[in-house]
Amino acid sequence: MNNYLDAVANRRTFAIIAHPDAGKTTLTEKLLLFGGAIQQAGAVKAKGERRRARSDWMKVEQERGISVASSVMTFDYEGRTFNLLDTPGHEDFSEDTYRTLSAVDSAVMVLDAAKGIETQTRKLFEVCRLRDVPIITFINKLDREGREPFDLLDEVEQGLALSVTPASWPIGMGRDFLGCYDLLNDRLLLIGRGATDMGEACSGIDDPRLDELLPAAAVTKLREDIAMVRGLCPPFDARAFLEGHLTPVFFGSAVNNFGVRELLHGLAAYAPPPRERPAQERMVQPSEAPVTGFVFKIQANMDPKHRDRIAFVRLCSGHFKRGAKLKHPRSGKIINVHNPVLFLAQERELAEEAVAGDIIGIPNHGQLRIGDALTEGEVLNFTGIPSFAPEILRRVRSDDPMKAKHLSRALIQLAEEGAGSVFKPLLGADWIVGVVGVLQFDVLADRIRTEYTIPVRFEDAPIHTARWVEADDALKLKKFIEDNRAAMAEDHDGSPVFLARNAWHLERAADDWPDIRFLTTREQTPG
Ligand code: G4P
Repeated sequence: MNNYLDAVANRRTFAIIAHPDAGKTTLTEKLLLFGGAIQQAGAVKAKGERRRARSDWMKVEQERGISVASSVMTFDYEGRTFNLLDTPGHEDFSEDTYRTLSAVDSAVMVLDAAKGIETQTRKLFEVCRLRDVPIITFINKLDREGREPFDLLDEVEQGLALSVTPASWPIGMGRDFLGCYDLLNDRLLLIGRGATDMGEACSGIDDPRLDELLPAAAVTKLREDIAMVRGLCPPFDARAFLEGHLTPVFFGSAVNNFGVRELLHGLAAYAPPPRERPAQERMVQPSEAPVTGFVFKIQANMDPKHRDRIAFVRLCSGHFKRGAKLKHPRSGKIINVHNPVLFLAQERELAEEAVAGDIIGIPNHGQLRIGDALTEGEVLNFTGIPSFAPEILRRVRSDDPMKAKHLSRALIQLAEEGAGSVFKPLLGADWIVGVVGVLQFDVLADRIRTEYTIPVRFEDAPIHTARWVEADDALKLKKFIEDNRAAMAEDHDGSPVFLARNAWHLERAADDWPDIRFLTTREQTPG
């Protein structure tokens, strides 16, 4: 049992959050190189091709195959086992990203030194903040002309209301970028010395060796900068970091493999092991012996002839062994997990065992849904796995009226996978499909056509937005639904949803019905 607890204590399950192009893929690859999980650069993704394919949904489909394989990347470093959970890079699939963040214990936020905080960075950060996920910041592309480091720190501090403390400090920038001073370990790291270089140990920022190793102007500037950093920024405080109030900031250049090892060392030293998880019933501790976990993502398999899917389960407690029989509280059934998969960078491997903090993939035919719990018998409903109100809604029509029933089934299954939201209006026969990004419609239409052989079209619908509705008083909710029948629908789980025609319609309803809560996210906790 002790071994098990040691294994849990050594797990670091994290994700990288970044605006597209900040360098997430490059950094992922370098981290895997350090962890020995891959042997050469370029193995993670065909990046250039992927970028060119942005507007081409066929390629997005192909990417789904790649993303299955690289969804969870496991590697070892400094005695720790890291689980890096990949988040889809495409903005249109950000919902998946949000859910993935519900399964991590910490995150690395990558910023492009020339751009600072961008829209997607901010959105993802807010999701982390909701759950107090500790964040380590990596400011990338120092080998290019970028913004002043103090300016960037200020933007993080002011823009995200997050205290910052530099863990390293850049010396020059762009063509004059010489390296970094490692403030946590007092080492001078010089660029161009290769990935295995450990840097020069210093006794501190006043060490005369710095004068030998750096040009005079650079040393003077470095000392001035560090004096300012120490005056302006709080020292690193592990507790504030773990509570999500303070971020250590590393500077580097992922493409040059510079600053990556220090970042990894920072993760190994400071990022938290698996944290306790809230369920409706109680908090679940990672040290508990019975196995528990929750599904945070469903990936349909690439083979359209087989409707099998892989449910990604984040283990919250216990020591899982292949062949374990787990209870699925939503259906009350026992699931025999004889063929779980662990996802490595290049290939799937059969998971023999796994502990709290690890992710296992469970192939299934649709029994497992996002938000579902798995336990050794206890009834648990984990919380914090959100579903988002879609921002774009369309009516789905099939050219073949004989297939109406099939279409309903297809839509419900796709909604269960999290591929989109579906709503059945109380009045009228057509389903409404909602997505976060418009590209999802193409993917959905294609999947419905190929996997269910139903040709469909998506048509504009006079609907502005969708809100799940709730009230403490069941009678008031019933009255609201009755009075607003024409605007009401049910989602795939039968939960009531208000479909507003325009912003005014929503505002008006909220004003008229103060006891009703109009929710933009809904927790995926099946009743
Ligand atoms: P993403 O996953 O966050 O979208 O970003 P990705 O790693 O694909 O990087 C985006 C672009 O930024 C790539 O260039 C990549 O080579 C470059 N990049 C990443 N890290 C650094 C860095 O430290 N310094 C510099 N100068 N560039 C960096 P690209 O030309 O768009 O693609 P590619 O042809 O190099 O793949």
